[in-house]
Amino acid sequence: MLKNQLFNPVFSELSPSSTLYINETVNAKWSQGEQVFHMGFGESRFDVHPILQRALAQHADKKSYLPARGLPPLCEQVATYYQTKLGIEFGAPQVMVGPGSKLLIYGLQTILDADLFLPTPSWVSYAPQATILGRRAHYISADIQDDYRLHPGALEEALLASDNPNKLLLLNSPNNPSGGALDAGLLQEVAGICRANDVIVLSDEIYFQLCFNRDSHISIASYYPEGTAVLGGLSKHLSLGGWRLGVALMPGSPLGEELMQRMVVFASETWSSVAAPVQYAALQAYGLSDEIEDYVRDCCNIHAIRTRHIRRGLQALGIHCCPVEGAFYIAANFDEFRAGLARKGVHTSSDLSRYLLQKHAIASLPGIDFGIAEQQLTLRLSTSYLDMESAADPDRIYQLYRRGADDEQLMAQQHHPVTAAALSTFAEFIASLEGDEQKL
Ligand SMILES: Cc1ncc(COP(=O)(O)O)c(C=O)c1O
Repeated sequence: MLKNQLFNPVFSELSPSSTLYINETVNAKWSQGEQVFHMGFGESRFDVHPILQRALAQHADKKSYLPARGLPPLCEQVATYYQTKLGIEFGAPQVMVGPGSKLLIYGLQTILDADLFLPTPSWVSYAPQATILGRRAHYISADIQDDYRLHPGALEEALLASDNPNKLLLLNSPNNPSGGALDAGLLQEVAGICRANDVIVLSDEIYFQLCFNRDSHISIASYYPEGTAVLGGLSKHLSLGGWRLGVALMPGSPLGEELMQRMVVFASETWSSVAAPVQYAALQAYGLSDEIEDYVRDCCNIHAIRTRHIRRGLQALGIHCCPVEGAFYIAANFDEFRAGLARKGVHTSSDLSRYLLQKHAIASLPGIDFGIAEQQLTLRLSTSYLDMESAADPDRIYQLYRRGADDEQLMAQQHHPVTAAALSTFAEFIASLEGDEQKL
């Protein structure tokens, strides 16, 4: 019965998402009592805001299926929210609610028959989704010397290299894994190229509420509204990944209407609708109330303080880190230490990630998972988990911040002991490489 032909061959080429895999690996190690610095998984750990907890409990009796596009007042609310936040006109008919932005992105990739273009680096799941659908994914080249900046010329070059007239560009700002953000000038240039080449843009802005420089976020939809679908959700800024609620805002154009019609078909034939109690509770999340807005601002500030502190600590060791402008990731590059690493049998980003886990108990993800050439010794380090391991930690740190602790006090060893220990471990690791150098 178990014949090879039974399976879609595409799945032999793919493995479980590396982010979820590293999280399970670390949890297994923790359950055996092993100490691991968990920089492998990006998950905001703050508590569910009490208003949202209450709203979910209040709506536990909502048992019916909802429209595939989403609860109508929620679609209204999301349109108003995005219009207020991004300064772009959106109407409720443009909004779809889905079980996480990941599946909305998959749905959009499914209904389009297009080659996928991805900046280097890009989040782990975009390319495998294209592979599942039998589509080609093209990475747009970028350089660590340039902190992986997207160059319009490189985008044009990549577009020219594909003979498929249907093209889809997936942008993600602030970016997972680099923490970088796309600025207005660049977005304008990219919008011009996409308009000239009929490229549809999926703009994954799931981290926009976590821009460290508040209100600095700009969406490419400001410059290319007719061709851009914006993706977002509750997972990051409200620490609600497990609630599985994402949103898509289709372009305000005939193309957007076509996308919506097809997405409704896709949703109705797959997930039907997002859990009703979660959609009712999300009315509060998108309600622009001061309490929720203040909470998001505080959580964002704490992510910023922690991420910048860790980045500074790594840079002090000579590790090159891309600038961080949002989210809770650092793209750290170890090319500088190539000789010392080679003597330890480390030649690729995968080797490096494995080595750090085995020898120094630091969990990370290798750059190759994000489309970075394997020889580049770049890792994604998440900052969201350190000192937030237990259920009580996030509130402890949040309350400290609310009581007025400044950046230095907040990051003091007594409050962030795991972060301090992780940075010391990196220091030992780097010293072990330099020690080798001196022996030669
Ligand atoms: C860049 C990016 N996009 C999308 C997602 C998926 O988020 P959701 O929980 O909305 O499916 C993630 C989650 O890690 C992400 O980092």
